[in-house]
Amino acid sequence: MPELSVVIVAADADQRAILQVLVDGTSVGQAVLTCQTFPTSATDPIVRKIHAANPQIIVVDIPADNAIPALRTMELLQHEVPDSAIFAIGNLNQPQVIVGAMRAGAKEFMERPTTTTDLIEAFVRHTATQKKTGREIARGKVFTVVNAKGGSGATTIAVNLALALQSSHGNTALVDIAHLGHCGLHLNLKPSFSVGDALRNLHRLDSSLLESFMTRHSGGLQLLAGSNAPTTFDPSTSEFARLFDMLVNHYRYVVVDASSRLDAATRLVSNMSQSVLLVSQTDVNSLWSAARVQQYLAETGKRERIGLVLNRYRKIAGFSEADAASAAGVKLLWKVPNQFSVISTAIDRGVPIMQQGHGDMAQGFHGLASVLTENDLEVKRTTWSLFKTV
Ligand SMILES: Nc1ncnc2c1ncn2[C@@H]1O[C@H](COP(=O)(O)OP(=O)(O)O)[C@@H](O)[C@H]1O
Ligand SMILES: [Mg+2]
Repeated sequence: MPELSVVIVAADADQRAILQVLVDGTSVGQAVLTCQTFPTSATDPIVRKIHAANPQIIVVDIPADNAIPALRTMELLQHEVPDSAIFAIGNLNQPQVIVGAMRAGAKEFMERPTTTTDLIEAFVRHTATQKKTGREIARGKVFTVVNAKGGSGATTIAVNLALALQSSHGNTALVDIAHLGHCGLHLNLKPSFSVGDALRNLHRLDSSLLESFMTRHSGGLQLLAGSNAPTTFDPSTSEFARLFDMLVNHYRYVVVDASSRLDAATRLVSNMSQSVLLVSQTDVNSLWSAARVQQYLAETGKRERIGLVLNRYRKIAGFSEADAASAAGVKLLWKVPNQFSVISTAIDRGVPIMQQGHGDMAQGFHGLASVLTENDLEVKRTTWSLFKTV
């Protein structure tokens, strides 16, 4: 007996008919309603009909030639019918559409033409997550760390931020997309697999395979390690989009160390991020580079999401933090003090500051993690319930 009721929204008549046959063919799901236009407002009668159908899943077909109406509809339905999971169907060669679908709240992104097998797998994944948690899991948030120039401290900050998020909220992944990955060294881990393995196996990547590519740090942080040698392997941005789609379905927080990698992949991952941390020191060359990097990232994304992290910060007479932020062209997000011997020893030993619980420095990374998660409703709720039980 079908377990899941499904609403199909597809403007194209053929696609609508095919999807209905495929959904019913899964025997796990049943199409209870099909809609031929993309509703544009909460008062649209189609939204009311979908609401009344109370589906567990809404499948939205994104036309290859005009994605915007479908993306707007997903956003609207995510808001108006929050208990239903949205599955997007579209073209995997359009990374911006995949990013748009994720932002609009889609839980799955499936390639067109879809097959019954793809749908069954997605339905089963959905049911399994619901059974495990008893509720819908919100998609995770991505924080990307890039540097203004090599040696600014991106890896140090990504590693310690990820450890801070793991210790406060759990379920955190650190993903190393730098051309040569240093995160494993900072954490004294010897990863057997890397981001490249996950990208090469996307066609069969499910939760358990993804987990098998991760290396676990003692406190629970999961590392998807970077490359341990320069490589000519050059995955497409669509492949990165699909990998990150999996990651945010799996982890609550995903910290990305891009370090000096400045290419379409970093730009795409930055676009998928809640915040981009641009790490710079306060010298003229670094701030000049920071301004170039933020311009590059903001060409395809939103500048407001980029925040300046001043590393090895020292007060300079006649040059304020506000001057540094205006030279870099982005708002100041955080400052990390200059503590060379503590930090370099931590890196050489593979025992990060957060793991040592080192006084002020560790407090600082906890502070950065709190600032980045302060608008996270779930975090607020947890804090409140903890407070109530005291
Ligand atoms: N806050 C800090 N104070 C002093 N030295 C630091 C600090 N952060 C990083 N460093 C030093 O800078 C070096 C480069 O840092 P790293 O995180 O590898 O930079 P990136 O990833 O941007 O290239 C480290 O080896 C460390 O010794
Ligand atoms: Mg680095």
